[in-house]
Amino acid sequence: MKTSGGTDAMKRRAGESAAETVDGGDVVGLGTGSTAAHAIRAIGERVDAGLDVRGVATSFASRELAIEERIPLLDLDEVTGPGADGIDVAIDGADQVADGDLIKGGGGAHAREKLVDSAADRFVVVADPSKETAVLDRPVPVEVLPSGRGVVADAVRAAGGEATLRRAERKDGPVVTDNGNLLLDCAFGSIPDPEALATRLAGTPGVVEHGLFVGLVDEIHVGTADGVRVRTP
Ligand code: A5P
Repeated sequence: MKTSGGTDAMKRRAGESAAETVDGGDVVGLGTGSTAAHAIRAIGERVDAGLDVRGVATSFASRELAIEERIPLLDLDEVTGPGADGIDVAIDGADQVADGDLIKGGGGAHAREKLVDSAADRFVVVADPSKETAVLDRPVPVEVLPSGRGVVADAVRAAGGEATLRRAERKDGPVVTDNGNLLLDCAFGSIPDPEALATRLAGTPGVVEHGLFVGLVDEIHVGTADGVRVRTP
């Protein structure tokens, strides 16, 4: 499901630009994917230079990279809940961006990403121009309870979509998420009303989390061939 036409240099510019917006003392949500990885490495460099931040990982992969970069980590439940400090900023990638709405989950991490990104005071998306579109139209990754995959696939079909179980590449059988669940990539064609589809998917029994991120984004950093475009939705 990973598809990206952007170059690594574009992703790096976006990641480094977003990392610059982190302040000393911040609790930072660390996104997943190749673009967010650039932000994590850039934050790591700033930590090496003395920046005092703590990260909250969104996946096994982002935790592994943060440890490599020696970014001090906290669990999500240490910074959320009554009386907790909260998350100041989350930096995360996207598979598609239309205005302020996103499709995420190409790396299967969208359930924890949505928890962390939605809890942050400021959610910054990092992307390259290939991710930008007027209307979302990529398949929506949906994490499902393993026993519920047939029920969810039927509900997706009733909603006008087609669900495909995501299969592993170097293992027989399906991709299993960090949470022990399965993924259905659900093709709906054009999604003119992401909020309506998000509501419908969220209300389907068996759905753990879907990859539509509606109305959560505060800032978008798009790395280009020669710089970075920063915009708000
Ligand atoms: C992870 O599940 C995704 O939500 C990623 O954030 C998204 O796929 C973007 O990844 P890239 O930056 O590698 O394109």
